[in-house]
Amino acid sequence: MSQENIIIALDEGTTNAKAVALNAKGQVVAKCARPLSIETPREGWVEQSAEQLLEASLAVVRQVVDAVGAQNVAALAISNQRETAIGWYRASGQPLGPALTWQCSRTADFCHALREQGKEAVIKTTTGLPIAPLFSASKMRWLLDAIPNGSELAAQGEICLGTVDSWLLWHFTGGTAFCCDYSNASRTQLFNLHSGGWDNTMLALFGIPRQALPQIRPSSGLFGHTQGLSGIPDGIPILAMIGDSHAALFAHGLGAAGGVKATYGTGSSVMAPVASAQCDVKSLATTVAWHDGERLVYGLEGNIPHTGDAVAWMVESTGLNELPEAELAQALGTLPASVDSTLGVYFVPALTGLGAPWWDEHARGLIHGLSRGVKRAHLIRAALESITYQIADVVVAMRQHNAFSLNALMVDGGPTKNDWLMQYQADLLGCPVMRSDVAELSAIGAALLARKALLQVDNEQLRAFLPEHITFQPDMARHDRLQKRWFDWQNAVQLARATA
Ligand code: G3P
Repeated sequence: MSQENIIIALDEGTTNAKAVALNAKGQVVAKCARPLSIETPREGWVEQSAEQLLEASLAVVRQVVDAVGAQNVAALAISNQRETAIGWYRASGQPLGPALTWQCSRTADFCHALREQGKEAVIKTTTGLPIAPLFSASKMRWLLDAIPNGSELAAQGEICLGTVDSWLLWHFTGGTAFCCDYSNASRTQLFNLHSGGWDNTMLALFGIPRQALPQIRPSSGLFGHTQGLSGIPDGIPILAMIGDSHAALFAHGLGAAGGVKATYGTGSSVMAPVASAQCDVKSLATTVAWHDGERLVYGLEGNIPHTGDAVAWMVESTGLNELPEAELAQALGTLPASVDSTLGVYFVPALTGLGAPWWDEHARGLIHGLSRGVKRAHLIRAALESITYQIADVVVAMRQHNAFSLNALMVDGGPTKNDWLMQYQADLLGCPVMRSDVAELSAIGAALLARKALLQVDNEQLRAFLPEHITFQPDMARHDRLQKRWFDWQNAVQLARATA
């Protein structure tokens, strides 16, 4: 029995694995992070080492367990990068190959062929997702095709195919639990939103044997116990698993239809809870927000593949990455404010195509409007502005479908620490932007779901543990002026699509 009821939440992201320890009052008492590598072996291909994702996750959990004392840990919770597909051999736990990450568009041709076969409508109405290489199903297909007899082995139950949560759970429990949660299942494109299980038509369309897939469980509840891990005691219950973006939505307290949040990370996710599985929203994805152990909650989501990543690309390309980390963070706050505008430059970061609301995997990145006077500050500002325009485009798509009334945009994630960026977002949208005062919101969301299972409390009782927000009020005069720039941005997007 744990002495302090500490919950350790692992947030396995694309660029970092982070672990956070929360005490019984919900306060962060220890944390640790490890960077992860991303490989891009060919144009449009993006992959990570599945072993590295696991090792980094174990390392940060181990470190936080050490910091708080193993006897005080009541439970583990996992939030994770979504859609990324991993295959492994059931007998050995060895991966079939790299983790094909959510950004990877190697299956663009396969997806294009499905579109040509007229499968768009059945896929959207069944899974809530548009056809796009972002989602796991086509990547799982690719993993099976990449090894001899992949399909046969999968059909015989010798291969496991999963999202990152199921990969981590399998190894955390010594190969005894093969499960994923509803939110991760709903990102595979194999999940039927209406029946709440794997869908036979989708399995046949993507050629994925059911035997290879994990069991789907509520996001809050017992998934298994730690077993056979070096430096982490056996028997710690894993009481929550949930996709990172969904976890952030939960931690913003946005359980009921009507609110909207944006998570700013490598990419971004704009998500609003909705009362039912509405699959008719063309430019957005319908998804399971979570299953809290009592009921399923749905979400409407726009995924944007390159936001923080767009800034990282520009930082590298302009040589700013030479700066030490703290100075770089400061420069990203001051550089955009050091110039009045981008001098007419627009950066469309379609580095592996465009996600919502365009869904064009063939679009390619574009820096538009260069002139002799353009300096590094203008380019950095253009990269930061591109985040706000992309998020605003998704917000507009949501508004068109009456998913919510935009009283405020709740935000979280690393780039939201940049005050200039938050003010620009508020001014562009013309509504308050409310930033969570805790950076690790996805981890907090997963921890809240674990606490729910641990204490058997309802969502109302969890409200006491929700983080506070800091508000950026919009300048409405500037909002009016920015509409012209937003319009010019839309034109630049069309050019990026035409260059494909
Ligand atoms: O859908 C992809 C998303 O879950 C990745 O999140 O935090 O790694 O950018 P992050």
